[in-house]
Amino acid sequence: MSKDRFFGRMNRLGLALTYDDVRLIPDQSEIMPKDTILESRFARRTPLRIPIVSAAMDTITERKMGIAMAMFGGIGVIHRNLEPKQQASEVARVKHHLNAKIAKPITVFGDQTIGEIKKRRQDKGYSFQSFPVLDREEKVIGLLTRNDFSRCHNDLALARDVMTPLQKLETATAETNLDQAYERLIHMRHNALPLIDKDGRLAGMFIFTDVKRIKLDEASGYNLDMNSHLRVAAAIGTGEKELARAALLVQASVDALVIDTAHGDSKFVYETLAEVKKNWPYVDVVVGNVSTGAAAERLAKAGADGIKVGQGPGSICTSRIMAGIGIPQITAVYNCAAAIKKLGLDIPICADGGIKHPGDIPIAIGAGAHSVMLGNILAATHETPGEILIIGKHRWKIYRGMGSLEVLLESEASRDRYQQDLTSIEKIVPEGKKS
Ligand code: XMP
Repeated sequence: MSKDRFFGRMNRLGLALTYDDVRLIPDQSEIMPKDTILESRFARRTPLRIPIVSAAMDTITERKMGIAMAMFGGIGVIHRNLEPKQQASEVARVKHHLNAKIAKPITVFGDQTIGEIKKRRQDKGYSFQSFPVLDREEKVIGLLTRNDFSRCHNDLALARDVMTPLQKLETATAETNLDQAYERLIHMRHNALPLIDKDGRLAGMFIFTDVKRIKLDEASGYNLDMNSHLRVAAAIGTGEKELARAALLVQASVDALVIDTAHGDSKFVYETLAEVKKNWPYVDVVVGNVSTGAAAERLAKAGADGIKVGQGPGSICTSRIMAGIGIPQITAVYNCAAAIKKLGLDIPICADGGIKHPGDIPIAIGAGAHSVMLGNILAATHETPGEILIIGKHRWKIYRGMGSLEVLLESEASRDRYQQDLTSIEKIVPEGKKS
């Protein structure tokens, strides 16, 4: 029986399935596991090399997990229990981890003294020593490098007298890509290749060591954007205040925003989605969480670029116990994916929560998911935030639900996720637990 007929019959009977209820029937194959292509998408324009996404939870994804995820080919969603500026800085740290192409290099002016520049370098803690030099009309006139600093013993000398001037410098056009930059840099004296647009202004810079690392390292499996930076997503909530958060995240070049709520099929989510799409139509917006085909259809029609499915299946979730809601996850994933397919739209589905074993991942994908979001499986790894607790002979790290009492009391963002407020502490209803 086909999957569609099977689930159609189950739905008519009011029956639903979760991970433990399903196994895939083995069938004849002509390919080896190593030849399998695992590429997928988290959102319409956000590709994945492997279909794995780390959860937007304060015990799972900050910069370290974001970097690790993208280096394995997936993507991390930086959680939103952080001040917006701090969250944007976590995004920026992931984006700049490889630094192959620096989109906005730190520059100096030709009439600044070497002493001034050295002081700024020290104050800001810059570890690099290649600075494009601009005139006061912001046009590139040269490059200051490590060599220039070490050969100059006069702090009062001007940058323009110490730098390598533009005429002696190798530069490239704004459109230069990583491969072209690598071909140029391997033959060059300088470690930096400034990119200059047709008006003579700086359009970016490639640094040899970083370009080489990406070209020669095992970077082929990394999930990289067009500028060869690691991809990363970040969570936002609903309402006016969250638009300001989104603005900072977009400024930090986030690849996808995730409207992260416990009930994605609600008025505030649609309003926020509309505002985000109006302000930043070029940024992917994944919306969730939902668990019915009708909700997925409404989100798709409202402009979501990705849909996150799962209400209550998570290992630390107590929503189904506390609120009595939820749909077993395999049926929820199938129904949402089928609804989107019926609309003829190309919107990826992310199956969020309830993955306990690696074998649950192909089951989610078989049901129609394009990716899975993981919390529990990644919990307590080196890449997660949080202290290591030593209890007896064992080392522990806390993994807790974003709707657990502790988090709800601590974080406004979590109260917003579960639509609760602090006006009466006795009325807070936790929907998550600690493990
Ligand atoms: P796993 O099973 O991977 O699930 O640990 C992670 C997902 O669970 C969701 N989440 C929660 N759901 N109460 C809930 O009902 C909570 O306190 C809670 N915290 C996280 C979330 O979607 C995450 O990705």
